[in-house]
Amino acid sequence: MSFQDSGGVVSDSLEDLTIDNITSHVIHMSTQIDDARVKHLTTKLIQYLHDYVRDVQLQTDEWEVAWKFLTQVGQTCTPERQEFVLLSDVLGVSALVDAINSKQTAAATESSVLGPFFNEASKVFENGQSITSNEVVGEPMLIRGRILNTAGKGIQDVLVDIWETDGNGFYDMQDPEYNEPDCRGKFVTDHDGRFFLKAVKPVDYPIPNDGPVGQILRLFNRDCRRPAHVHYMITHPEYEKLVTAVYLSESQFILEDPVFGTKKSLVVDCTWTEDEALAKVYQISPFERDIDNETRRGFWLLDRDFVIVQKTSQENRKTFDP
Ligand SMILES: [Fe+2]
Repeated sequence: MSFQDSGGVVSDSLEDLTIDNITSHVIHMSTQIDDARVKHLTTKLIQYLHDYVRDVQLQTDEWEVAWKFLTQVGQTCTPERQEFVLLSDVLGVSALVDAINSKQTAAATESSVLGPFFNEASKVFENGQSITSNEVVGEPMLIRGRILNTAGKGIQDVLVDIWETDGNGFYDMQDPEYNEPDCRGKFVTDHDGRFFLKAVKPVDYPIPNDGPVGQILRLFNRDCRRPAHVHYMITHPEYEKLVTAVYLSESQFILEDPVFGTKKSLVVDCTWTEDEALAKVYQISPFERDIDNETRRGFWLLDRDFVIVQKTSQENRKTFDP
């Protein structure tokens, strides 16, 4: 092939690009770099992207819809809202990355997506304290558990960072008047690996759906509500970090979590208890609730242990290595 350039010189070296050869050309032009990992990521990205376009025979108007959509996603991002992460979440990419990168063994508690509402700035509390302020709406719930190694022994001095919605389904940072952490806190396990705290029962909540990601959920006829859950980030210098969550079995959205964070092993029963002795031990205030037309006094109990794996363990899952 040849062409006449502006200087009138005929070039025999330019190959006309076609549907069949453009991919290898773009890959070649984009991977003249030393970093092997970036080279690999770039090669695969271009390959899969081009294969998709060829496979679906992408039409010009469809391509326009796609780039306009991505423009909207970018324009929706603010320091408080990350629409790209939300897009990754609803397409299952976040859950997939989490699954690939989890270094926990089969014997350990499974991980779950971090979600967009983690806040490193949450305070460290004493065991037994409440993570909720007086203004928080919600039904009192005792959260307790142990952090165990794979031999079932409690681990001392593990930092357990917990965050959840209030009883209205909102995280603190979604409140326009938010100025300090609420419904979140860090706890350190005792000599037996135990932690316990007062909280409120979380409820199902909608992920932000007033932006472009909400539009595609409606296009896909998908619900935007996540099943009620409590997040945990569990860290200790000698153990692999575990980011997980437990999901309340009573939620009707367990099977259709819009961000694909639910896993069988992470579904728990949040139990109603009227055990006054237990309330006394943990100094939790029971509240009144109508059950079968009868007023009862009690509180919710979320009891769940977690197993983490030592960093040196040979059992660790292998991560992707091209
Ligand atoms: Fe969440």
